[in-house]
Amino acid sequence: MAFPPAFLDELVARNPIEDVVGQYVTLRRSGSNLFGLCPFHGEKTASFSVAPDKGIFYCFGCHKGGSVINFQMEIEGMSYPDAVRALAKRAGMEVPGDEQYQSRYHQQERLWALHKEAARFFHSQLYAPVGEQALKYAMDRGMPKSILTKFGIGYAPDSWDALVKAMRQKGYTDEELQQSGLVTVSRKNGNLFDRFRDRLMFPIIDVRGYVIGFGGRIMKKDDSAAKYLNSPETLIFNKRKNLFALNFAKKSKLGYLILVEGYMDAIALHQYGFDCAVASLGTALTEDGAALLSRYTDQVVLIYDSDTAGQNATKRAIPILEKAGLQVKVLQVRDAKDPDEYLKKFGADKFKNLLEESANRVEYQLNAIRKKYDIREDDQKVKYLQECAELIATLPSAVRREVYGGRVAEDAKISMDAMQMEISRAYKRRTQREKKQQEKQSLAPARNHQPHSRSIRYDNVKSAMAEEQLLGQLFREPVLLDQIPELKPDQFSVPLFGRVFEQLTRRFREGMEISLGGLTDVTSEEMSHLAGILHSQTGPISEQALKDCVRTIQSEYEAGQVVSENDLLAVQKRMKERKGMKA
Ligand code: GTP
Ligand code: MN
Repeated sequence: MAFPPAFLDELVARNPIEDVVGQYVTLRRSGSNLFGLCPFHGEKTASFSVAPDKGIFYCFGCHKGGSVINFQMEIEGMSYPDAVRALAKRAGMEVPGDEQYQSRYHQQERLWALHKEAARFFHSQLYAPVGEQALKYAMDRGMPKSILTKFGIGYAPDSWDALVKAMRQKGYTDEELQQSGLVTVSRKNGNLFDRFRDRLMFPIIDVRGYVIGFGGRIMKKDDSAAKYLNSPETLIFNKRKNLFALNFAKKSKLGYLILVEGYMDAIALHQYGFDCAVASLGTALTEDGAALLSRYTDQVVLIYDSDTAGQNATKRAIPILEKAGLQVKVLQVRDAKDPDEYLKKFGADKFKNLLEESANRVEYQLNAIRKKYDIREDDQKVKYLQECAELIATLPSAVRREVYGGRVAEDAKISMDAMQMEISRAYKRRTQREKKQQEKQSLAPARNHQPHSRSIRYDNVKSAMAEEQLLGQLFREPVLLDQIPELKPDQFSVPLFGRVFEQLTRRFREGMEISLGGLTDVTSEEMSHLAGILHSQTGPISEQALKDCVRTIQSEYEAGQVVSENDLLAVQKRMKERKGMKA
């Protein structure tokens, strides 16, 4: 849905980016820009900057950037329309018309409120007579009252309609109850009944503090029912995009996050002082989950269950986390099936020792390989060493390759030289493979000019550089558009730049503000890229330089138009004719 451009302009103007960012980040002025610690990736030196005059933010570390609207989206994990709405509210502005959106937002607000009431209801039941067994169960599992309160743990009574009744009394309609996923409709008579019955209830709270769903644990031994029942996907609950206890863990001062499999594991960790623990919500870790983690830390310690399923899940989670730019460590609990059991058996100090010993992912993977082979057998020993060499060859640092190679050699009692030779062979094979792959994308131009973004590629670097410079100037000084009437959007080699140029031209003609925040149909990744370009722009360039940019774009475009041999011949013929005419 599109907001009216004039509304967006006012929204951006009434929400100065330094004020909005300043609510989350401590900013220090340096020259015309402000600097602070990037809220989107963990860092110790300030590479996050805000340029109030341009209305943009940009991080030189993680390359996120954009307008005040993009900032609001990123920091609060909001959709575009929700971010616009939040900023409108902040500036005391009405969001124009779009009933559909209004009603959707209103529905969400009702569901958040309903979930909060439901959590209160479940929590109260834990201390009511019906909750006696549940409370005993929680206590037996070593959860003190303080933890039950902190996590809002509750009890869903063994009844078909306890929640339905309680929520109706609070004024929620049957339709809202159905939308919440906390009740189901009987197929027989259409009556509503509680989804969660006789279960210990764990509220799932998002980073903004809204209760968005529940996990419910069965307490009796009963193989016919699922041990945990979770809320279904609703308007406000997406289990792949949320993590249990992140609302607390995001405030941790420990500097890393611990990722575990179960609710109970996360809770136990918090209880024993490791306030940086989060759990995935009954699913394997997803890319969305990893992206969410990377907003709050750059280091994750994986502590999955000690069984085979847990170890397999670890193996799958490592590349997902690394792809999100996170450093991964792996901790294996010994003599306990999961972190919860470990803490309760051995206590926080022992656990702290484990944590300090926790292996980086290479050590962890070397251990895993070691377990596969019986290296007393020669053929197995060879295979073991080869597999280790393959793994070690993936390390970009020569020092690390040498260190880990040395360790493996010592362990297998072979010479260091032989192991290093095996590794460098594996390393060569690997780099050759990579080189071949790069050659395949042969048009790929010089690397250092390529964008950091994955979705934007420069096929013609020469033209792209000119396009960058031109757009940077136009954002500074839109009147320059008057001087280049001959340039057309489709002459840009980077489609994004063509689209932006088109919007700038249109807005300029209509006498509207020109700012990054006013652009529409631009993804956040594209926005980051544009912010990066604007940010690196310094002072104005000469009129001649501007004209040169335009000429470069046009001539590169024309050169690209000559695709077939026939075209080429036609052009040559025309050029000859022209020369002939001159002569
Ligand atoms: P406890 O047995 O209470 O200690 O639970 P746990 O947290 O150790 O859970 P477990 O290791 O058995 O499972 C890990 C996580 O997987 C749980 O926290 C749930 O999110 C999820 N899970 C486990 N069993 C089920 C199930 O039967 N159905 C669904 N949907 N999720 C489950
Ligand atoms: Mn457990």
